Amino acid sequence: MSGTEATALVEARGVEVTYGGGRPLFGPKQPGIRVLHGVNVTIGRGETVGIVGESGSGKTTLGRALLRLVPVSAGTIRLDGRDITRLGGAEMRPLRRRMQMIFQDPMASLNPRHSIRRILGEPLLLHGVAGNRREAEVQIRAMLNRVSLPAAVLDRSPHELSGGQRQRVGIARAALLRPDFVLADEIVSGLDVSTQALVLRLLKELSRDMGLAMAFISHDLSVIRAICDRVYVMRFGEVVEEGPCAQVFDHPQSDYTRLLLDAIPLPEVDPHWLFPGTADAVAPPPVPKETCA
Ligand SMILES: Nc1ncnc2c1ncn2[C@@H]1O[C@H](COP(=O)(O)OP(=O)(O)OP(=O)(O)O)[C@@H](O)[C@H]1O
Ligand SMILES: [Mg+2]
Repeated sequence: MSGTEATALVEARGVEVTYGGGRPLFGPKQPGIRVLHGVNVTIGRGETVGIVGESGSGKTTLGRALLRLVPVSAGTIRLDGRDITRLGGAEMRPLRRRMQMIFQDPMASLNPRHSIRRILGEPLLLHGVAGNRREAEVQIRAMLNRVSLPAAVLDRSPHELSGGQRQRVGIARAALLRPDFVLADEIVSGLDVSTQALVLRLLKELSRDMGLAMAFISHDLSVIRAICDRVYVMRFGEVVEEGPCAQVFDHPQSDYTRLLLDAIPLPEVDPHWLFPGTADAVAPPPVPKETCA
């Protein structure tokens, strides 16, 4: 373990989430379906934690619970030591900036009628990160440079960008708000392998430079191994195994993790594929600069 207990930024203890239920207009109270059964997760500052498990195991639900985007029926979520499990909307508002999400499908999360300038600028003004439009423009241009996108994209709308460019806009939008914690849920699953590598390297660089804590959900174990420090393996709404990536992938303790690894034969994948030529994933080579288009 990496001593995350002392510096935990995000901490979930005994978290349960139940969908549905409640009392309909007529008839008896409905029980709902519990999909998380007492989950414990700790994410340290600057730490990238992977969440893996088969479809329906509760990965997205867990990620959303950490961000208080789904109601938690039992257990606690702490941010920086503060119990945020039952904070109301007004109390949550200042914390929202600190917890950002990068979506799987940027086409669905970026307003198709807005320019990239507006998509990036509005949250900056809304959260008071930029005092006015001019300040926002300066910050946006610096961030575009950081994610290797040309300033020409500012006047385009999302459908005028490639999938990889859109995903970089999604990353830029989250990073501009200077969050402490980012949830990335299957963010590269729609991209080809070389674009995946570009987007992941960028995210890793940014998270390192900004000291971001990150929860990274993916079906792809080779991606998890390349980008994450530790990994949680989920099944049926429970964590069945947890530990540093090397330990979990090389010496899985649970039968389920072994099954998962057998389904995707990891030994054939170089764990350093994302950062070729480096001994580990700590010092990624720079993302190549994109000229235009
Ligand atoms: N809004 C919802 N209402 C009711 N049930 C839901 C809702 N969202 C998810 N579920 C159920 O909760 C369980 C966990 O879903 P979740 O989306 O968290 O899984 P996942 O691990 O992210 O799956 P995938 O890998 O397919 O994205 C599933 O059984 C799903 O059907
Ligand atoms: Mg999911």
